[in-house]
Amino acid sequence: MPYLQTDVTKVTTRVLQNMKLHGEKIAMLTAYDYSMARLLDDAKIDVVLVGDSAANVMEGYQTTLPITLEEMIVYGASVARAIKRALVVVDMPFGTYQGNSKLALASAIRIMKETGADAVKLEGGEEVLESIQRILSAGIPVMGHLGLTPQSINKFGTYAVRATDQEEADRLKKDALILQEAGCFALVLEKIPAALAAEVSNTLKIPTIGIGAGSAVDGQVLVLQDMLGITQQFTPRYLRTYGSFGADISNAIRQYITDVKAVNFPNEKEQY
Ligand code: KIV
Repeated sequence: MPYLQTDVTKVTTRVLQNMKLHGEKIAMLTAYDYSMARLLDDAKIDVVLVGDSAANVMEGYQTTLPITLEEMIVYGASVARAIKRALVVVDMPFGTYQGNSKLALASAIRIMKETGADAVKLEGGEEVLESIQRILSAGIPVMGHLGLTPQSINKFGTYAVRATDQEEADRLKKDALILQEAGCFALVLEKIPAALAAEVSNTLKIPTIGIGAGSAVDGQVLVLQDMLGITQQFTPRYLRTYGSFGADISNAIRQYITDVKAVNFPNEKEQY
């Protein structure tokens, strides 16, 4: 499959729409800092998500709920400063858009003004429609997120696969259409049966990006630290690791400690 969009100088929401039309899959990864974001952009990733998974992988929280708007803005701005080509999407954190569309707009405007990102992402369907509409009315592109929505972990009580029963699957399909109708430019589908994700992706005109949603979606997203093998003890079935950088980093640190203790670092060439 040829990569049709490698020549674009800047990935936009329109480019993603064209990729869906041409059947070219969208590659998306998370990043939270400048150095990693530069590597992702140099490698020509299509979309960089400054996910609220930063609460887990950067800050060590058990859930994504505690992360603040201010923290997301610091991560978002650090990433956006590194990116020339990819589309940068920043997650709206828990408590900044649910149940209050004016607050949602104010939060989204802060993200756009203070980070330099291209779009925001928020979790949920019909229940957050008013917030999505208000954000879109200000010209801010919105990516939706259905299926497993980690900000609702206290409602679900589990991170297990979602929409395995007919009622929840029907609600998800309805929500997907509502989000498309509202004007979302893309939709993350997290941890749902592959057949359901395929059906939603075939029905929608906007691209779907899956995580634990099989291959018949329009793109894939993973958390960078998970796919690099840095995250410890997180091994969901959907995760493929592309390296064991956690072990490599540990070995490098151990070697450094050994060298320092043995006065093997710095050597003569490494001093003035
Ligand atoms: O916060 C995040 O990293 C996400 C992805 C898992 C889609 O929302």
